[in-house]
Amino acid sequence: MKRGEMSQQAWRILVVNGPNLNMLGLREAHLYGALTLEDVEQLCRQRAEGLGASLAFMQSNHEGVLVDRIQQAREDADLVIINPAAYTHTSVAIRDALLAADKPVIEVHISNIHKREPFRHHSYVSDIAVGQVVGLGVAGYGYAIEAGVAYLNAQQQD
Ligand code: DQA
Repeated sequence: MKRGEMSQQAWRILVVNGPNLNMLGLREAHLYGALTLEDVEQLCRQRAEGLGASLAFMQSNHEGVLVDRIQQAREDADLVIINPAAYTHTSVAIRDALLAADKPVIEVHISNIHKREPFRHHSYVSDIAVGQVVGLGVAGYGYAIEAGVAYLNAQQQD
């Protein structure tokens, strides 16, 4: 049996959150909603569990810490879901770490970055991602997990 099938080892999903996402629920609630990062983690765990996937969840305000964790995904994850937050628009280092990890990537943004300031329209991640979930609130993390598991299952059949 292959990874991801019942009674086999589960798909390993890493969810990475960039700077200021530890302030969810407090920061700019009109953009990011009232739920906290702990709520988001719980939502992700429930969704992953329902799909038989295992989940690692992290947040850092520090670019190097994010780079270190993403690199580790080469060894301990099958898929990376990332909300790089402000680093989306600035970080070649995070892009390079994702390329080095060599795992499929799904990019998540809680707000619709395309409706916001022009500097938020460019992402250093989107052209190396399988896809993006943008502007659907924190529910987007759950959609990304669902889409990620479907993607991994489909890849396995190829
Ligand atoms: C964000 C959008 C970014 O532009 C911003 O810097 C964030 C959060 C989002 O989830 O909507 O911190 O990634």
